[in-house]
Amino acid sequence: MSEYQIECISLCKQYISNKQKVIAVEDINLHINQNEMVIIKGRSGAGKSTLLNLMCGLIKPSHGKVIIGNSCINELSNDTLSDLLLNRIGIIFQSFNLLPTYTVYENIEIALVPKGLNPKIVKDNIMSFLEQFNLKDKAHLLPSELSIGQQQKVAIIRTLVKQPSIIFADEPTGSVDE
Ligand SMILES: Nc1ncnc2c1ncn2[C@@H]1O[C@H](COP(=O)(O)OP(=O)(O)OP(=O)(O)O)[C@@H](O)[C@H]1O
Ligand SMILES: [Mg+2]
Repeated sequence: MSEYQIECISLCKQYISNKQKVIAVEDINLHINQNEMVIIKGRSGAGKSTLLNLMCGLIKPSHGKVIIGNSCINELSNDTLSDLLLNRIGIIFQSFNLLPTYTVYENIEIALVPKGLNPKIVKDNIMSFLEQFNLKDKAHLLPSELSIGQQQKVAIIRTLVKQPSIIFADEPTGSVDE
């Protein structure tokens, strides 16, 4: 399997909530090829975010497994999974997950710090994205000083700037304009 292919095998996730069993994802079998873009649709509560979180290794399945390339991501050590999330996988979260006390610029920069890149290249790259997304004049503001759509754009840039090979995007256009 190429390093970009993704396979979900009999994937299930149950939560226990208030002593009740909630089946969020049930028996998903899915194969995604290199260069393929897959859109998952479903009503609110259908399990889309849970499925994405399973596929990128943020949560562990109750049954089944997720394979990316030749690795079963549920069996990776924390270090190997962190490396995968830093270098190959990008996640755009439904609720953005911006750090409230960091500026727009810092929220994006933090995604690149562990890569140890040249600071000038990092700055040019971030400013170029901010310009493209029409946010250049907001670089030094806090997320709370932005509109919701602008916050979502920052969350998108934070992922794109890492140039991941695989992007998991959870309702990434829910709040932005065309
Ligand atoms: N951490 C959790 N603990 C308990 N139940 C959870 C948890 N996360 C999600 N659920 C439940 O799992 C089900 C699926 O939730 P999920 O967030 O995956 O849905 P979704 O399709 O992304 O919905 P939306 O379109 O509203 O974002 C829901 O019934 C939800 O209540
Ligand atoms: Mg969701």
